[in-house]
Amino acid sequence: MLRKVMYAALERKLKRAYEDRLAAFGPAPKGVFWRNQSTQIARFDALLDLITTMTPAANTSIADIGCGYGAMLEFLQKTPRYQRFHYTGVDINRAMVNSCKERFPAQKQLFFVGKQPPLPVDFCVFSGTFNLCNTMDTSLWHDYIFANLQSCWQLSRYGLVLNLLCAPQTQIKNQIFYAERQTFIANASRVFGPTHACSTPHVTGDVTFLIAKS
Ligand SMILES: C[S@@+](CC[C@H](N)C(=O)[O-])C[C@H]1O[C@@H](n2cnc3c(N)ncnc32)[C@H](O)[C@@H]1O
Repeated sequence: MLRKVMYAALERKLKRAYEDRLAAFGPAPKGVFWRNQSTQIARFDALLDLITTMTPAANTSIADIGCGYGAMLEFLQKTPRYQRFHYTGVDINRAMVNSCKERFPAQKQLFFVGKQPPLPVDFCVFSGTFNLCNTMDTSLWHDYIFANLQSCWQLSRYGLVLNLLCAPQTQIKNQIFYAERQTFIANASRVFGPTHACSTPHVTGDVTFLIAKS
């Protein structure tokens, strides 16, 4: 119960931080705290490529949890090898979801305010969703991440794919969470299922994880 109150307080601060950022920089990589578009796209590519490698099915439904202003949908639409994906975007922040609806007026129905997909999907994907945090308490943030993964796990047929910045020790520095790669793999494997990790190509320190349903 106390944890839930703490999570709600974290989310209030996070929503404000993302809303201010979007107001300042607009629907652009900097508007969701990315340094540039190439690292944003490299992250999407790594997440989607891992799903493609692990599950060669023709049609795959994904929910982009923490979709920001919808940059992943734009990337999917432009990339021939990812036409197999059926997209839904979800974000905790109403301002982000409104911006998605403005950018994709013909696909407004694909975007939702929330923290989990409205219907079951093959995979939930998270790109940068858990990087920014407004606490110095690594164990609180770790538990918050796992609580969010848990609610999406129940609505994912095949598993979860996410990226996290990683460091030799779990830490929070300048409001950014860094996981220790092996610890995260061990915890995710224990709580959920077999967890694979690969360093995200072209993004220093970033690791892409796939947690599969066995
Ligand atoms: C760093 S931005 C990345 C946005 C997008 N994935 C991209 O790469 O362009 C993180 C996004 O996750 C959203 N977010 C943070 N925590 C979330 C949660 N628990 N559930 C859903 N969205 C969340 C934020 O509002 C923000 O839009």
